[in-house]
Amino acid sequence: MINILFQIFVEIGATLHKLDLYFSEYVDFKTEVLHSLERNVLFLSQLQDLSFSVISEYSYESATKLLKILAKSSTKINTLEFDNFYSGYEPQIYHSLVCVIKSQDQLRRFNLAGDAIFKFPAKFHGIISALKHQNQSLREVIIQNCTCSAEFKVFMKCENLEILRIRNCNDVELLALSNCKIKTLEIVDSPINGSNMSLIFEKSGSFLQQLKLGSENKIENK
Ligand SMILES: *[C@@H]1O[C@H](CO)[C@@H](O)[C@H](O)[C@H]1NC(C)=O
Ligand SMILES: *[C@@H]1O[C@H](CO)[C@@H](O)[C@H](O)[C@H]1NC(C)=O
Ligand SMILES: *[C@@H]1O[C@H](CO)[C@@H](O)[C@H](O)[C@H]1NC(C)=O
Ligand SMILES: *[C@@H]1O[C@H](CO)[C@@H](O)[C@H](O)[C@H]1NC(C)=O
Repeated sequence: MINILFQIFVEIGATLHKLDLYFSEYVDFKTEVLHSLERNVLFLSQLQDLSFSVISEYSYESATKLLKILAKSSTKINTLEFDNFYSGYEPQIYHSLVCVIKSQDQLRRFNLAGDAIFKFPAKFHGIISALKHQNQSLREVIIQNCTCSAEFKVFMKCENLEILRIRNCNDVELLALSNCKIKTLEIVDSPINGSNMSLIFEKSGSFLQQLKLGSENKIENK
């Protein structure tokens, strides 16, 4: 079905603006469809909104091949979202995701949600660090169900980052402390250390305009 649809879209000369890719075990791109996507660069050239999740190892190959095409054809993505993120994919997938991030000219929003089954991924294999290539354009970051590792320090370099939303994550202070010019900060369903939060508030000074904190029995105060 997906092969037929892509083939038809390309044939009628469509240009996609939004693409939501969910790689279940049934996704298997035919070689001729991938070639046709590669040849017809217009189809993916105007893509602004890309959501991506791969949940089955049977679709790793198709996912990798399509990501490689996206990295070449789509450079105008505004919003990039990775769902069901998992630390144990094949290395080629991370490599291709990094290529997609690097090739963008105007990435403004980045959303990452860890897989709810393989809880709290803590290894991001260079995907978060790759956002340093977007250090001017990035405005908004949403992280869910992840463990914020040292890679998240990259946000220190994102001068124009204004909105940071952290939901159901671990080690969130590392992330929140990494950029203190945030205007909108949201931390919900994540363990919060009161002393660390006060440090964040001191550092943010007059930048912070909107704050949302929500936690059930997880705020530790000293
Ligand atoms: C995050 O994990 C919770 C379970 O801990 C799940 O209910 C929720 O859907 C997950 N969020 C996303 C965006 O995957
Ligand atoms: C932002 O990225 C540019 C180009 O990649 C680089 O030259 C610059 O040093 C970076 N800025 C920071 C604060 O890292
Ligand atoms: C909270 O953070 C402060 C300052 O970093 C630290 O001294 C304290 O041990 C932390 N408390 C917990 C429960 O982690
Ligand atoms: C508070 O910050 C300290 C140092 O930055 C860190 O070691 C500690 O784990 C943080 N506390 C919590 C509850 O995350």
